[in-house]
Amino acid sequence: MLNLGVLASGRGSNFQSILDEIEKGNLKAAVKLLVTDNPGAYAIERAKKHGIEHLVLRPKDFPTKDSYYEKIAEELKARQVELVILAGFMRVVRAPLIEAYRNRIMNIHPALLPSFPGLHGQRQAADYGVRISGCTVHFVDEGMDTGPVIIQAAVPVAPDDTEDSLSERILKLEHRIFPEAIRLFAEGKLCVEGRKVKIAGYRPHDAALINPPLT
Ligand code: GRF
Repeated sequence: MLNLGVLASGRGSNFQSILDEIEKGNLKAAVKLLVTDNPGAYAIERAKKHGIEHLVLRPKDFPTKDSYYEKIAEELKARQVELVILAGFMRVVRAPLIEAYRNRIMNIHPALLPSFPGLHGQRQAADYGVRISGCTVHFVDEGMDTGPVIIQAAVPVAPDDTEDSLSERILKLEHRIFPEAIRLFAEGKLCVEGRKVKIAGYRPHDAALINPPLT
């Protein structure tokens, strides 16, 4: 059983997708703690509903940014958390937490990294006019959305897509690949070698998404 700690700032639909997979018995994990920087986060309601402890920790209540992340690392360690999940945590995590959980922090980003890092990945992709975008689960390092990639999923982008329509399409895949990445970790199948994540038992496939489709 893998002990998870979740950090979320808002709605928490990715948090919910992980809870759902645990409850269905598809993911051998337990969420030990939700940490949020936002007292109004809907993620808190989800934690309460599932009997999960939550802490509201706000950076402004700490003397430095580093001391904020030291505190989060301390609270996670105190609950024997083994893997930290950034599920819509709208901050760049700093060294004290990254060093305490090196290659044991996962983030989901709503674009195919390294394209469109930072805020509003979906809006950036729609505005750029790419034909394919998607989402990425990656380990977290010191950069902004730069850590080793674990899983990506792609969706077609239409010329008239908006940030909202594309976000909706991408979110459905986020809810599938985030629990899957955690499952691979829980089963001991992930190994980080430099920038690359090796996946035990990975079988290559040649499925292609071409957009617009060939005529
Ligand atoms: C998602 O789009 C995720 O990719 C990004 O933040 C959003 C969080 O949504 N990192 P939710 O709070 O999980 O519903």
